[in-house]
Amino acid sequence: MNYRRLGRSGLQLSELSLGSWVTYHNQVDPKAAIEMMAAAFDAGVNFFDNAEGYAEGRSEEVMGAALKALKWPRLNYVVSTKFFWGLDGAVNGRNTLNRKYLSQAIDGSLARFGLDHIDLVYCHRPDPNTPIDETVWAMHDMVARGKALYWGTSEWSARDIRSAWDVAERHHLHKPVMEQPQYHLFCRKRVEKEYARLYKDIGLGLTTWSPLASGLLTGKYRAGVPEGSRGALEGMGFLVKGLTDAAKNAAVARLEGVAAELGCSVAQLAIAWAAKNPQVSTVITGASRLSQVQGNLAAAQVLPKLTPQVMGQIDKITASLAD
Ligand SMILES: NC(=O)c1ccc[n+]([C@@H]2O[C@H](COP(=O)([O-])OP(=O)(O)OC[C@H]3O[C@@H](n4cnc5c(N)ncnc54)[C@H](OP(=O)(O)O)[C@@H]3O)[C@@H](O)[C@H]2O)c1
Repeated sequence: MNYRRLGRSGLQLSELSLGSWVTYHNQVDPKAAIEMMAAAFDAGVNFFDNAEGYAEGRSEEVMGAALKALKWPRLNYVVSTKFFWGLDGAVNGRNTLNRKYLSQAIDGSLARFGLDHIDLVYCHRPDPNTPIDETVWAMHDMVARGKALYWGTSEWSARDIRSAWDVAERHHLHKPVMEQPQYHLFCRKRVEKEYARLYKDIGLGLTTWSPLASGLLTGKYRAGVPEGSRGALEGMGFLVKGLTDAAKNAAVARLEGVAAELGCSVAQLAIAWAAKNPQVSTVITGASRLSQVQGNLAAAQVLPKLTPQVMGQIDKITASLAD
């Protein structure tokens, strides 16, 4: 496993990491989480992604219980959380990045994790109703109080990220260090075009999500939605149209040929492809079971095989279908 600096910060993250959206609490109990996180850690993963909103806080509890059992030195792993949607529906505690919510939300996460600080804290979505200055000051205070070490954004526009950074620069505050965007073979524009200036101008780091497009890039949806898959889970119906898209599934079938030539699976090829982008600090993988963790992390060995010629082949198959 290689390690990359999170943007301009000094923090180093494993180029592949492991997240808990959908899976923890719903598909993965604390016992399975211990096995999966241990396998990832043994493969060199040092970053585990989470959010307040995942399983309404219970994903943080599952990960916290696993961390407690695993007893790793605190210096050897990085955990994250994210705030925006809130948990209790209070008018000042939902769909917001206001100071009141953010200052309480971090305490809730710390309690659920059983930790005294969270390494990376993200503003999970932009909040057009709160002035950016208020959010930046609240995130700065969270860091200044030692409750978080670095802060960043998720799915913010380049313009809003730049505004937040400018506020922090103007007032000598802790700046946003990283953004967490969706990035995979069918979702490229934001990372490759919209944010292009930010990498050099403000040293933005990226922790990217859904490298397999929720499983589409494994090939498992080519003949419809298989039983037991994410697409078949209650509440995940909104993903089905994308997962069963005929043109994208046909492209995945063609990618299988490229993967076979490299001696890997199409999932490993897709994860390695996302990690190939030098602006990406870490690719956050997701898994509902141990065998997926093991298979997906082996993508690190596929990375050196992605020569310009292979990247060209992949582009030819997928680029016209990408947003
Ligand atoms: N910031 C944000 O807004 C945001 C949004 C989404 C995700 N994230 C983060 O990014 C992480 C990764 O996202 P993701 O879970 O959507 O990643 P993904 O890699 O696109 O999808 C992971 C899912 O695909 C299936 N899968 C994984 N490996 C497989 C394999 N080798 N063979 C067959 N199926 C496989 C599993 O679902 P099944 O087995 O159930 O089918 C697994 O849960 C999340 O855990 C979360 O931490 C962040």
